[in-house]
Amino acid sequence: MGNSVTTAFSESRIKLVNDYLESNLLRFEKSCSQRFEPLIEAMRYSLEGAGKRLRPILCLSAAEALGLDPRTVLPAACAMEYIHTYSLVHDDLPALDDDDTRRGKPSSHKRFGEAVAILAGDALLTEAFGQVLLLRESGRFQPAQILGVMDLLSHHAGVRGMVGGQLLDVTIDTSEASLPEIEFIHIHKTGALILASVLIPTKLAPIDEEKIQCFRRYGEAIGLAFQISDDLLDSETNFRYSRGPRKKPKPCYTQIMSPSEMKQKLNLLTDHAIKSISSMGDKTQNLVDIAEFIRSRKA
Ligand code: IPE
Ligand code: IPE
Ligand code: MG
Ligand code: MG
Repeated sequence: MGNSVTTAFSESRIKLVNDYLESNLLRFEKSCSQRFEPLIEAMRYSLEGAGKRLRPILCLSAAEALGLDPRTVLPAACAMEYIHTYSLVHDDLPALDDDDTRRGKPSSHKRFGEAVAILAGDALLTEAFGQVLLLRESGRFQPAQILGVMDLLSHHAGVRGMVGGQLLDVTIDTSEASLPEIEFIHIHKTGALILASVLIPTKLAPIDEEKIQCFRRYGEAIGLAFQISDDLLDSETNFRYSRGPRKKPKPCYTQIMSPSEMKQKLNLLTDHAIKSISSMGDKTQNLVDIAEFIRSRKA
C-alpha cells in the first residue's frame, strides 16, 4: 500500500478495514463452539452494511501522521469499529432510541429480537478488547504500549466517555437543555470514541507531549464537529441517513441554534482541527481530508 497516495476514504483503505474485520471475524468464529453461531451472525450483521468506517479510518490516518505503518494499527482501528457498532446496536433498542433501521437495514433487535441484539452488543464490546491484544502480532509494539491503548479505550468508551454521554442523552429533559449541557452530552456520547480513535496511535509511537496535545485538540474538535454535522443533517431531512425518522426527541443543537449558526460553529471547529495539526508536516493530509469530509458531509 503506498501510504503517500492512499487518501483517507479511498476504496483501498476502506477495503483494508473491511477485509481485516471480516478475516478476524472468521478467525474468531473458528475458535468458538458452533452453538454460538447466532451470536456471530448478529455481530457480523451489524458490522456489515453502510457504515462509513470513520473511526478506523481516523486511527489509520493518525498512525500515518506519526510515521507508523497503518497496517500495524489495524487491530486497534477495528476494535474502535466494534465498540462503535455495539454502541449503535444498543442505542437503537426500544429502551433507548427505539430506531427500526440502522446502516440501511433493519436494526439488530428488529432482525434478531432484543435478547440477541443486547448480547451481540455485549459480545462486540468485550471482543473489542481481545482485538486490541492482536496488536502484538506485528511484533512492533511493547506490552506497555498495548496496555496504554486498553486504558484509552476503557476511559473513552465507558462511564467517563460514550456510556456516560448516552446516560445523559436518554435521561435529560430535552425541553430544558442548555447549550453547555448539550455540548457536554455530545462531547461524551459521540466525541469520546472519535477522540480515542485519533489518540490510539499516540500510545504506539514515540511522541512528545506537545504533539499529543495537537492530536487531542484535533480529535476534540472533529468529535464535536461530527455531532453538529449529524444534527444539521437531521434538521435538513426527516429521513435520517441509514436510520429512518427519529421517534424520540433528543438533546441536539437544533433546539438552541439556527442551521446557519450550526454551520458557523461547524466551520470554526473544522478550521481549529486543521490548524491544530498544521505544524506536523505533510503526513497529516489524510487527517485534514477527514476534517473537510466532516465539514461538508451529506451522509
Ligand atoms: C452515527 O455514527 C452515530 C453518531 C455517533 C452520530 P456514524 O455516522 O459514524 O455511523 P456509521 O458508522 O457511518 O454507520
Ligand atoms: C448515537 O447517537 C451515539 C451513540 C450510539 C453513542 P444518536 O442516537 O444521536 O445517533 P443516531 O441518530 O441513532 O445514529
Ligand atoms: Mg441515541
Ligand atoms: Mg440513536
